[in-house]
Amino acid sequence: MPSCRLFQVLSLSFVFAVIVTSSLDSRAACVQDDPNTTKPWCNKALSADERADMVIGQMTLDEKIQMVHGTGWGVLRPGAPIPAGSNFGAGFMPGIPRLGIPNIDLADSAVGVRMAAYQSRYATLLPSALGAAASWDPGAAFLYGDVIGRELRAQGFNMSIGGGVDLMREPRNGRNFEYAGEDPLLAGTMVGMLEKGVLSEHVMNDIKHYALNDQETGRNVVNVLLDKKALRESDLLAFEISIAIADPSGVMCSYNLYEGDHACENDYLLNQVLKKDLKFKGWVLSDWGATHSTVKAAINGLDQDMPGDDNYFSAPLKKSVEDGQVPMSRLNDMVHRILRSMFAAGVVDEPPIRTVVDPFRGREDAQHIAEESIVLLKNSGQILPLKPSATTIALIGSHADVGVLSGGGSAQVDAPGGNAANPQPGGSKWGQPVYFPSSPMKNIQAKSPQATIKYSDGADPTAAASLARSSSLAIVFANQFMSESMDSPTLSLPNNQDALIEAVAAANPNTVVVLETGGPVSMPWVDHVKGVVEMWYPGIGGAQALANILFGDVNPSGKLPATFARNEVQLPHPIVPGLEGIPPGEPLRERNVKPFDLTYNEGAKVGYKWFEATNKQPLFPFGFGLSYTSYAYSDIAVDDTYRTVHFTVRNTGQCAGTEIAQVYVTLPSAAKEDYKRLAAFQRVKLAVGESKDVTLTLHPLTLSVFNTQQNGWRLLPGDYTVTAGSSSADTPLKTTLHVRP
Ligand code: BGC
Repeated sequence: MPSCRLFQVLSLSFVFAVIVTSSLDSRAACVQDDPNTTKPWCNKALSADERADMVIGQMTLDEKIQMVHGTGWGVLRPGAPIPAGSNFGAGFMPGIPRLGIPNIDLADSAVGVRMAAYQSRYATLLPSALGAAASWDPGAAFLYGDVIGRELRAQGFNMSIGGGVDLMREPRNGRNFEYAGEDPLLAGTMVGMLEKGVLSEHVMNDIKHYALNDQETGRNVVNVLLDKKALRESDLLAFEISIAIADPSGVMCSYNLYEGDHACENDYLLNQVLKKDLKFKGWVLSDWGATHSTVKAAINGLDQDMPGDDNYFSAPLKKSVEDGQVPMSRLNDMVHRILRSMFAAGVVDEPPIRTVVDPFRGREDAQHIAEESIVLLKNSGQILPLKPSATTIALIGSHADVGVLSGGGSAQVDAPGGNAANPQPGGSKWGQPVYFPSSPMKNIQAKSPQATIKYSDGADPTAAASLARSSSLAIVFANQFMSESMDSPTLSLPNNQDALIEAVAAANPNTVVVLETGGPVSMPWVDHVKGVVEMWYPGIGGAQALANILFGDVNPSGKLPATFARNEVQLPHPIVPGLEGIPPGEPLRERNVKPFDLTYNEGAKVGYKWFEATNKQPLFPFGFGLSYTSYAYSDIAVDDTYRTVHFTVRNTGQCAGTEIAQVYVTLPSAAKEDYKRLAAFQRVKLAVGESKDVTLTLHPLTLSVFNTQQNGWRLLPGDYTVTAGSSSADTPLKTTLHVRP
């Protein structure tokens, strides 16, 4: 058995050019001026809040209004004017040069910087955010954000739009690949660390889509109904945790409604929770086109209208301030939130400096994250890891000869050289799958030079089965393309791929399925194949990472950040809400759906909590993932005072590895909860035979209930059952934490 990691040799087959455009920002000011004379707010010794207030004291009403809206759709809509001075990102707010305030140039960057092709720039495609969450590695999440931050800076942007932390309530949601799964602690921690990484590069960061934008079907018209206790303990807890970690510059409010009000004019969500309870200091920017009013939105907490052609926060807001409908103090607060975030992030003192993005470093980082994110779901008869040999391997489907799949919509990153599966000049088209040039076939061949590898595109299951029959091993690549603005109608793999896998498995007992999916899928064929590997959308280093996993140079360590249901019937909403009565085959565009209420009767029971409370056995449970070695857990103890848990993990197998240890709590009976909650986790790296003692702090909010009368978190006195183990369904250790009244 090989040890767990080989040194990687980079081999990029492309070169690229960066065109430095004429888009000059207004970065002169604080960098060049003498802070003590002309612009006292340039003094870095002052706090961001003090500096912001000093600037506001010098601003005219028009300048304040200019800061609270963008300048239109720009590059996002063919034909829309592109504002002078913009850096060709999704959003732009012109700065105020006379005061030394730079432009805000925002770029979509959920999984890498979007629309690089537009300016002949290069951007690293990272694994999907959901994939990164499967690493359960806050360090990998920070690195992820750091890659995005440094590439944004190199391209002249000073704000990232990303940081999706909507909980996976709907496994068919088209944007799950941009989010971090179904658990508030895991998602909140990973997205918080990711956005902290962005900020570490002096690029303003963002958390979105606040809140409850959990599906794309009807996203502009769906009115979510969920009681406040459950909301605070589920979806908003993910935001609460991520905001506490990331200290975001911006929070993007979402398209949907909550309890009758659009999220971008929702007093409860924006003023009561986000700004008051969560003490969010940055500004609330609308999702693109999610503003619906002037006075109501301004009073209820929206600070900036994006992209800003809706005419709510320009002349109409100025008039509302002059009329006294929106107090000047509120406008000042909006501007203060933007300015203090600019000072706090360092975009005034250390504006971006254009350089050439380093694609080699980006790819290496992406590969590292991918290696931690790939989840081994099934490994019968130890079919994996593969041994290099003069065997014949059939590779089938998903353009595995040339590339790996990426997710679509506003998270789409442009592939270097164009779509590897269908090279064409220019950027990508909305809703069209794009493959990145990271070839599984080449990388598998490189691992096993004597093997004969043959590829079938899988379009004809009979031809694919025949190739499989004449090979000693068949690897079927199955995919599910997902994108913003559309959900998958089912959990099934699209395009007849279930039948393809069945045909191949029937032809060759040594069949391994590699999944490139946006989120959970059903697997009716799971008992007929020997291996299943979930690699998500694995990013530009995906094929190298996969080959390392398949051949055991990297021992798989990823674990599922979301439950994989057997079928739709197991879900709280067997049909995607809003799609009821729509014949299958209709285009699933969010715009086709009429307004509707979506009641989350399942409350805070999202994902594994739902499965436990309703006593259902999923296909693969939350937190599950196999390794080429084995681990044993022992000796659990809790400290009632510090609320820590202590246990030992030992590597009992033949290969070094990293185990993701998970701790769950079940609250005292007074909480009336029929499910457990993830309360702590840690990656534990272990050599063969090694044992490590692990001490973890139970996250205080995962021990608490939200009391709506008192509007606060409360720790109930009583006995808490604490369990630890390798997944939500495998917790061999058990003890009790006592909380005294
Ligand atoms: C998406 C946002 C995105 C924005 C700008 C919207 O359609 O929901 O996530 O940041 O567009 O591209």
